[in-house]
Amino acid sequence: MTIDISPSILNCDFAHLADELDAIRNADWVHVDVMDNHFVPNLALGMPIVESVVKTTSVPVDAHLMIEDPDRWAPAYAEAGCSSVTFHAEAAQAPIRLARYLHQHGVRAGLALRPATDIQSFVDILGEFDTVLVMTVEPGFGGQRFLDTMMGKIRRTREALTALGADTSIQVDGGISRATIARAARAGATNFVAGSAIFHADNPTAEVEALREAALAAQEADV
Ligand code: DX5
Ligand code: ZN
Repeated sequence: MTIDISPSILNCDFAHLADELDAIRNADWVHVDVMDNHFVPNLALGMPIVESVVKTTSVPVDAHLMIEDPDRWAPAYAEAGCSSVTFHAEAAQAPIRLARYLHQHGVRAGLALRPATDIQSFVDILGEFDTVLVMTVEPGFGGQRFLDTMMGKIRRTREALTALGADTSIQVDGGISRATIARAARAGATNFVAGSAIFHADNPTAEVEALREAALAAQEADV
């Protein structure tokens, strides 16, 4: 399985956004965290930033909506040029309808789960999604510690996808670094969001490659 590295710009230097995006031009996605101060206790990165990012980079944009009522707000992120839109299972009223809407507009659809949300209730609808995001921290802030306790959920998600025959990718987000990425890869994740590990590194471009190498090595060791 291929590995995707998705740098989260949540804690990048917004005074130099174009330079920060240039430093991660070798990434597979640019991960943009949208927070509404209701679904999570933080307010961050709305539509103007998304539009600037889409205009400034050729790397596809992956919007992670940590907001209430994604049924109402997600379509605008598709229209703004995001290539993938992920919304939270806990917040969506009609996740299948929303996933199909995104697909009709040529955008990939992702379903995100907070750490305390069980995958079991969503197994039957995973085939509707291109990505399932297993949060490895409580959503809301960068720089938190990776939750090792999520490895069981990633494994169960991988087993469920294999049983379904679905090619939905498993994304992890929160606390991903050189120290943790191998564990998540061995559990079955293939798409890795990393914020502080990349943007606080001396060389973000090299860090993207180091994370990719570490995930690939873990995946190959497991075969
Ligand atoms: C947290 C966000 C993450 C965050 C990750 O709720 O969804 O994308 O930026 O940051 P790190 O990699 O520092 O944990
Ligand atoms: Zn995120």
